[in-house]
Amino acid sequence: MPRWADENVLVGFETADDAGVYKLTPELALVQTVDFFTPIVDDPYTYGAIAAANALSDVYAMGGRPLSSLSLVGFPAKGDPEDLEQILRGGAEKMREAECSILGGHSIADDEIKFGYAVTGAIHPESIKTNAGARVGDALVFTKRLGTGVISTALKRGIAAAEHVEESVRQMATLNRRACDEMLRFDAHGCTDVTGFGLIGHAREMALASKVTLEIEVDRLRFLPGAVEYAREGAIPGGLNNNREFASCVVESARPQAKEVEDLLYDPQTSGGLLYTLPEDQVERLGEAYRIGRVVARGEKPIRLL
Ligand code: CO
Ligand code: CO
Ligand code: CO
Repeated sequence: MPRWADENVLVGFETADDAGVYKLTPELALVQTVDFFTPIVDDPYTYGAIAAANALSDVYAMGGRPLSSLSLVGFPAKGDPEDLEQILRGGAEKMREAECSILGGHSIADDEIKFGYAVTGAIHPESIKTNAGARVGDALVFTKRLGTGVISTALKRGIAAAEHVEESVRQMATLNRRACDEMLRFDAHGCTDVTGFGLIGHAREMALASKVTLEIEVDRLRFLPGAVEYAREGAIPGGLNNNREFASCVVESARPQAKEVEDLLYDPQTSGGLLYTLPEDQVERLGEAYRIGRVVARGEKPIRLL
């Protein structure tokens, strides 16, 4: 895309960050992002809530505070209006939980349902957390468990246990707000949220932007209950294979990894957790976030699995 110089653009599209940031005054900048997708669960209310949590996440991933949002809706002309009402209600209640005001939105007739939000947040220009902030010597931490893509695929195949689906849905609908609040209490350096490109895909962006290698201790990673076994049974989303094809060239491994665990490192996440770095000596004071590795000087590959 063409670009032109504007000194108020603090974060633009060039760096593959979660949201754009535009400076209004030396103390205040806008964080702006948009996200929408097709239904990922059957229940319309839950779909709306997850779409809202997912759209808000990119503001939290920059260290920002959401202020307002606009909804984007694609809905079939002959669809059930009750479903649409439930989608909007699920989204609105999640936005209220985030204390983010819905100002309006736009809808079009569309054969395939689509829903999401454009979200605007606020941030101090000096406390923006980007992909480029990771520093050698930092610890690498994560705030959710992996496996939402594999569990959704297992559900489509009819092999997922109800309690595993419920737990995955609960996590997807959980705001990254608390995780962001916790991050902001520490000297976090780089941050992103793990979504469609999977853990490796988003770690890759951080490693490249920060010009470092991220070492991930695979045994420290947490997975949603059922995820490892469904991956072993072959419930692999198409996006997972695409992610691996795209990003595996930046990964080296110090030892052979179990196939199903390695699969989950590429699993596309919906409304996934925050992945961030902070000084090693602050890790023991973390509550929600857990350590998954560390930042080292750029080695042979940008990501090294241990
Ligand atoms: Co993001
Ligand atoms: Co996004
Ligand atoms: Co309009």
